[in-house]
Amino acid sequence: MEETAAPAETLSETVEERLRTATSAMLAGAVLVAVVILFLALAPGTYQVLLALHVLAVVIWVGGDVTLTTLGVVFERKRDGEALAQLGKLGGWIGPKLYTPVLFAVFGLGIALVQKGNWGWNHFWIDFAIAGWGATATLGIAFIGPELGRIGALAGQIGPDAPEVGRRINRLFMIFRCQTVTLMLIVVDMVAKPNF
Ligand code: HEM
Repeated sequence: MEETAAPAETLSETVEERLRTATSAMLAGAVLVAVVILFLALAPGTYQVLLALHVLAVVIWVGGDVTLTTLGVVFERKRDGEALAQLGKLGGWIGPKLYTPVLFAVFGLGIALVQKGNWGWNHFWIDFAIAGWGATATLGIAFIGPELGRIGALAGQIGPDAPEVGRRINRLFMIFRCQTVTLMLIVVDMVAKPNF
């Protein structure tokens, strides 16, 4: 089928809008990087720099996870299969691009903190974090990511509204909820450092 060309006016409006978005995103990123560098340069020591980066990575990972999960619950309650499928697509796009590198940064910085802070490994709060990280990272990389791809392919074949697609999306979001709960528990565990 031949595509009708968009009117020149609409096209230039779209280009302008994209330019505006790119400029404001770049400005926000530049301010963020500059202030983070300033704060880290003024930190009392390496340990605080590692801790700040560890917590920043945790905020990106866990914050994103909680947002996706919350939207999943809302769309499921509204029985909005289309929005749920779109959310799954978004998760499949952002997961490998942002969450996978960030979850490895959380791990590396956590290990560096244990070494630098001479904490030792024999603490429940550290072992719980390592075990929880292992479980959530494995689940995310080995199952959630690939399953999102499989669901996308299936939706392309049999349609996004097919019952099988809906069933698999619901199962995936249920697993995703368990992952989010584990991550939130690790945050509380790391901050409270339970003494047993
Ligand atoms: C994977 C293995 C991990 C190790 C070995 C580790 C280790 C550490 C260490 C040593 C600290 C510094 C504690 C302090 O100075 O008081 C810390 C802080 C923290 N970690 Fe982790 N971490 C890991 C994973 C995680 C994960 C997966 C999360 C979140 C889901 C997380 C969340 C936090 C938070 C929020 C803090 C700040 C706690 C505070 O300053 O009171 N960590 N972590």
